[in-house]
Amino acid sequence: MAETLNALERYEALRLDADAVYEAWRMPDRPRIDIAMDTSSLANGAQDTGRALAGLIASSNANVDLGQVHGYGMQWLHPTVQVTFPDGATVLYGPVRVEDAPRLLDEANGIWGAAADLRIGMIAGERDDIPSIRDHEFFSLEPRERRLTRNLGLIDPDNLQHYIARDGYRAAARMMGRHQSEEAVRNVLNEAGLTGRGGANFPTGVKWNFLFGAPGEVHYLVCNADEGDPGAWVNRVVMEGDPHLLLEGMLIGAFATKSREGFIYLRDEYPFSIQRMEHAIREAEAAGLLGDDILGTGVSFHLRVIRGAGSYVCGDETGLLSSISDDRGMPRVKPPFPAAVGALGKPSNVNNVESYANVPLILMHNAEWYREFGTERQSGTKIFSFSGDIPRVGFMELGFGASLARVLDVCGGVQGGQLKAIQPGGPLGSLVPGHVIEDLVLEPASFAPYDAILGGGGIVFCNDQTSVMVLVEMFSEFVEVESCGRCTTCHGGNQRKTEIVRRIIDGDGRREDEPNLHFIDRTIQFSNCAHGQLSPKIMRNILQHFHDDYERAVLGVDHTLTAKGLYEVVVANQRDPQLPAAVDICPTGAIQGEEGRRKVLADLCIRCGACLEVAPNAMAKQPKTARPGILALT
Ligand SMILES: Cc1cc2nc3c(=O)[nH]c(=O)nc-3n(C[C@H](O)[C@H](O)[C@H](O)COP(=O)(O)O)c2cc1C
Repeated sequence: MAETLNALERYEALRLDADAVYEAWRMPDRPRIDIAMDTSSLANGAQDTGRALAGLIASSNANVDLGQVHGYGMQWLHPTVQVTFPDGATVLYGPVRVEDAPRLLDEANGIWGAAADLRIGMIAGERDDIPSIRDHEFFSLEPRERRLTRNLGLIDPDNLQHYIARDGYRAAARMMGRHQSEEAVRNVLNEAGLTGRGGANFPTGVKWNFLFGAPGEVHYLVCNADEGDPGAWVNRVVMEGDPHLLLEGMLIGAFATKSREGFIYLRDEYPFSIQRMEHAIREAEAAGLLGDDILGTGVSFHLRVIRGAGSYVCGDETGLLSSISDDRGMPRVKPPFPAAVGALGKPSNVNNVESYANVPLILMHNAEWYREFGTERQSGTKIFSFSGDIPRVGFMELGFGASLARVLDVCGGVQGGQLKAIQPGGPLGSLVPGHVIEDLVLEPASFAPYDAILGGGGIVFCNDQTSVMVLVEMFSEFVEVESCGRCTTCHGGNQRKTEIVRRIIDGDGRREDEPNLHFIDRTIQFSNCAHGQLSPKIMRNILQHFHDDYERAVLGVDHTLTAKGLYEVVVANQRDPQLPAAVDICPTGAIQGEEGRRKVLADLCIRCGACLEVAPNAMAKQPKTARPGILALT
């Protein structure tokens, strides 16, 4: 019992300090400007904005501090900043560019209204008639109170004490302090219905049972932070926004599976996530929340980040385990499953970042609380990232079952045309026709009738100026290049598939291409791992749902003028003053003829687009003349 008190007492001592630090941060003595610092913000100029503000504060000796938070989700408005005033009111502004820095500083410094046009909403407290950010249309489908994303905007992600002050590590401390059994922990997850967020949806508690029951003293707990799908940045939000949530989830997982060591396999293309996670690990170790004798309980858990080298198949759990084990990063056949043979040949468990992140929340509350959101089949909430041809690119935390049509509405609808296709789940995911959007809700079962998957949370909307054939070429090349090469079915099959698609969009489609593509599809499915097995899916979706587009491409027709072999570049205006620049920039000298009678020689034009960029009014694309004989096919 002494140990019991000890663990909780130690936590409460940490909490006391943390509360004081957090209180001072939330109700600062003087206004503080927090720049949203995360990968999306950095890509949109947050560092420049931060430097401009720092320079102004220093040169004017302003009575204002600078700090950092993670962005709130409205990434089309980045870079965003928050100003927290001494009464605890926090206003969100964006986009705040370098030139906006002076008036933003004025507003923080007491000239209220100086940056009124940049205000987005209140993160905390009240001010004038500024609405709460929770009332913004973009978040109208989220639970009123966020769960996985509850700390965004309300903590500095690099500050462990902020996390603790908002109940962080309480679930872990309670579990250890009360000697909750490992089995009880796993059971709560099963009752809650938590399933893997990496795409396969396997029940997390069941997977933990496997590792708990595995023989031997050495068990490894592994986090899959490889997030390689273009259009998905769900795990990144957790790691950069609330890194201790992941660490706490893994700590609980270590306890429940008898693991004393763990790895976070994190893709090197996420340098900022790596920085945040490594910093968080050091902080947790220093506070006695990771390492040996955690909270005085005698329990040890050592965790480290392993940087992945940018191979897509290392996101597959067996490829990832090979990579961690210093073997070539190749997926392997299962069984043996990771719980039998995992990292360094020892029993292991692999879960996605978001799967672990859900665990502390479930333990803090209970299974019933978790099931308040979601559907009968799929409980809880999930973070989704939305991008593509929409004006409002960003992320939301939604209960499973949310209407995708409503999501598109709050993302501002489709821009540049009508909705053509929805691309969930990345290169191994699917391509769903836009016209079925009203039937789609965000849960895996809803996508199944379209031979589609929901995947890890990245959803890309495509307008009707997108050629689905160009899209499938991109994905086909991706899965070919990323194939590990072990199975000829996968590597050779995807190579052949890419060649056929490329030939079609180069204007040389053939009647026999379609049966050949079906044949390749059936063959690739015999590959050893899920990469190969799923790799022909998007091509199959094209033949299932976009057959007209496929047929037109075979006939040499592409109304989007993006399939390189199906359009030609012509001189549209001989008198345009930019035309000489187009002539000069053409790398193949394809624009020939004397002034006033210039024309593009089709045999030389490689359709690189350089002339269209420098002289958009002089040059134009036009559909290619149909190939002689091809019309006979119609
Ligand atoms: C080629 C390939 C890439 C994958 N990439 C990821 C990834 O980046 N992140 C992830 O969590 N799961 C990925 N998976 C799924 C994992 O193999 C595995 O199912 C998952 O990490 C299990 O965790 P979960 O049960 O928490 O979802 C990938 C699978 C394949 C076949």
